Amino acid sequence: MKEIGLYIHIPFCKKKCYYCDFTSFSGKDNIIDKYIKNLIKELSLYKDLLKDSSIKTIFIGGGTPSHIDGKDIEKVLAFVKENFITINLEEVTIEVNPGTLDLEKANRYKKAGINRISMGVQTLNDQHLKSIGRIHTEKEFYESYNILKTAGFQNINLDFIFGLPDETIEDVEKNLEKIRNIKPAHISYYGLILEKDTYLDKLANKGMLKFPDESEERNMYYLIKNKLKNMGYIHYEISNFALQDKECKHNLLYWNIEAYIGVGISSHSYFKNRRYWNRNNFEDYFLDLDKGIFPIESGEDIHVNIEISEFCIMGLRLTKGIDKSLFKKRFKKDVDYFFKKKIEKHLKNGLLIEDKNFIKLTPKGLDLSNMVEVDFLL
Ligand SMILES: C[S@@+](CC[C@H](N)C(=O)[O-])C[C@H]1O[C@@H](n2cnc3c(N)ncnc32)[C@H](O)[C@@H]1O
Ligand code: SF4
Repeated sequence: MKEIGLYIHIPFCKKKCYYCDFTSFSGKDNIIDKYIKNLIKELSLYKDLLKDSSIKTIFIGGGTPSHIDGKDIEKVLAFVKENFITINLEEVTIEVNPGTLDLEKANRYKKAGINRISMGVQTLNDQHLKSIGRIHTEKEFYESYNILKTAGFQNINLDFIFGLPDETIEDVEKNLEKIRNIKPAHISYYGLILEKDTYLDKLANKGMLKFPDESEERNMYYLIKNKLKNMGYIHYEISNFALQDKECKHNLLYWNIEAYIGVGISSHSYFKNRRYWNRNNFEDYFLDLDKGIFPIESGEDIHVNIEISEFCIMGLRLTKGIDKSLFKKRFKKDVDYFFKKKIEKHLKNGLLIEDKNFIKLTPKGLDLSNMVEVDFLL
């Protein structure tokens, strides 16, 4: 039986953060009930299509899933369990924000089968939290984190961002020292992306913000990598660090180009060699579901050549590299059959290294990954 991942999008937030361009909205709480009903309608359209698939991971992302009533999350998960094959379900993650949790909600998550939490923190510096428009303080983060611990959650990821306005390497160091004391199972530490037309981008365009320069940013990344490694975290993807066996199984499924279904507005799916994405606004999403049709905006067939390239490029993002035996199992030929000359070129110029099982980027290769990735396009 084919194993798949399920992504469920909850596009509501208490307030929009200044840097964020995810499909998420504040001030639309009046349509949460309608949205949940439609999510369930969309899931029911998949019953037949997924009758031979077993759901291995579920990721409830956003937006801020913890902004809505815990009963709604329970309802959606109960529907999934009643209508799909979940006997092999290993990981159920929900994204939460500090300041949107109480013990009742956390207990409800636990009862509903959620076994992994991903909490957006971004920084533990109150001044920086304010300057990026977060709704919470450092103190509120600890309160929410303790609630999760009291409810019995062990497998917790914390999201951080470096390269924030006015942030110095000493500020990043302070965050890392706090992480040392908290010791969560998993850390995602992203470099800030100044997304077009966000409030932060507009302020930056007016010259009102000062960001760390390129070399400061690179030093921050090296510091994060080294310190987290010293604390016992395994650096398994460019921005992701995990204690032993605590890698995110759902994200690994994306990075290994495996099948997943996404429900909710703007969600993406990759199923039966087709990639497609949903309507990205509520009106069209509700309209399609009223008509009883999939709320799909568009899609494309993924030819095996694209699949091979994506498998390799995503493999290079994983610090262990391209898994040669997995490649052979999946594509029935050695990776050398397609890329021998290109691999040799990068082994010679010191951007790749190879052992019996893996081909991976060297530290120099990580800095110049674009140069290597283009050579894996078929
Ligand atoms: C889907 S978001 C939502 C998580 C959750 N709502 C929260 O904010 O706490 C997942 C993560 O993406 C990261 N992120 C969002 N926008 C970003 C940006 N412009 N640059 C870098 N990281 C970003 C943040 O770390 C965030 O926690
Ligand atoms: S970062 Fe999270 S809380 Fe902030 S706007 Fe984006 S999805 Fe919402």
